[in-house]
Amino acid sequence: MSFDDIIDRRDTHCLKWDMMEKLYDVPQDKGLAMWVADMDFRPPQVVLDAVQAQVDHGVMGYFGDDSAYRAAIQWWMQTRHGWSLEADHIFTTHGLVNGTALCVDTFTKPGDGVVVFTPVYHAFAKVIKANGRRVVECEMTQDNGRYEMDFDAYDAQMDGSERMVILCSPHNPGGRVWSRAELQAVAAFAKRHELIIVSDEIHHDLVMPGHTHIPMTAIEGIEDRLVMMTATTKTFNIAGSHAGNVIIADPDLRAKFAARMMALGLSPNSFGLFMATAAYSPEGATWVDELVGYLDGNRQLFDTAINAIPGLKSMPLDATYLSWVNFEDTGMTREEFTQRVEKDACIAVNHGPTFGKGGDSWLRFNIATPRARIIEATERLAAAFGDLQ
Ligand SMILES: Cc1ncc(COP(=O)(O)O)c(C=O)c1O
Repeated sequence: MSFDDIIDRRDTHCLKWDMMEKLYDVPQDKGLAMWVADMDFRPPQVVLDAVQAQVDHGVMGYFGDDSAYRAAIQWWMQTRHGWSLEADHIFTTHGLVNGTALCVDTFTKPGDGVVVFTPVYHAFAKVIKANGRRVVECEMTQDNGRYEMDFDAYDAQMDGSERMVILCSPHNPGGRVWSRAELQAVAAFAKRHELIIVSDEIHHDLVMPGHTHIPMTAIEGIEDRLVMMTATTKTFNIAGSHAGNVIIADPDLRAKFAARMMALGLSPNSFGLFMATAAYSPEGATWVDELVGYLDGNRQLFDTAINAIPGLKSMPLDATYLSWVNFEDTGMTREEFTQRVEKDACIAVNHGPTFGKGGDSWLRFNIATPRARIIEATERLAAAFGDLQ
């Protein structure tokens, strides 16, 4: 398979292409879907073969004996991230939005504050609010066009009702890979304010050449307050399998989480487990290496073209395939630049304000698509903002 292959996803019940007209009023026939975070690529053959084997067998009963699945997760985290973890620390949730919601529900009480560093993945705030907790938005600052965290300001913002901090590592949007010193600062902040740390590392495999992701488990002194979240779904483009891992080393936190999952009657979908087991393999690793090389090429092409349009500026991505573009220097209102992207260029994107404080002048573009579409998108944007040339 080549990442250049154009696969028509229209009329396949696919959120990204089949809902863009309804949600963004971008016509399905000529629109380009560059919003929600899934890729327009097939997963590696080893994953497709695992699903095919189930279809060929034909009996789709309950899943049993997940030891190979747990071993595959252990192998992946050890070989790709230098993280050694125990098999019985792993919980499988219905994806990581579900994992986040379960953490909020299990480890905090209604009315408690949950800290997020904004702009950040919008579903965090959604599930915090839906669970009757308060979103405490700690806005990031920018240094040289890259996001940074300002803990002096955040310390002053805390009022003692906060119980949890959700870290997005690598960060979506903005694509920061956090340094060890930054992760240590998050850890120290959590200790100062007695917060549980939920570290969502779903983008940890999609790291551009020259950068290295550090798992939060590598930071000392927070074992008793740390919840890790990982998944195969972003890495291998199998988000429809809705499987994610919540990994907890601390026995007390683990017991609480296990009890909550039991109370809610949660158990995983067998297809998610078959796919994840196949993906976390040497074949899967080779595919991810090729994928990241391709995404890096898309990123360079997209950034060069975007930054050549006066008034537009993309944030340099250390990781993820989600390009965060600032329209502030166009001098246009949010309505106007969004209208130009959606109506003139016919591109469906994520709107900045949904990511919280600091997102107003931004739009997020998903660049995990064949390169021909990146070229098409940048040509459309150059034309839509042509009067600024
Ligand atoms: C940081 C982050 N967490 C979680 C998710 C979604 O996870 P899931 O599909 O497993 O619910 C996304 C999807 O974009 C994400 O960016």
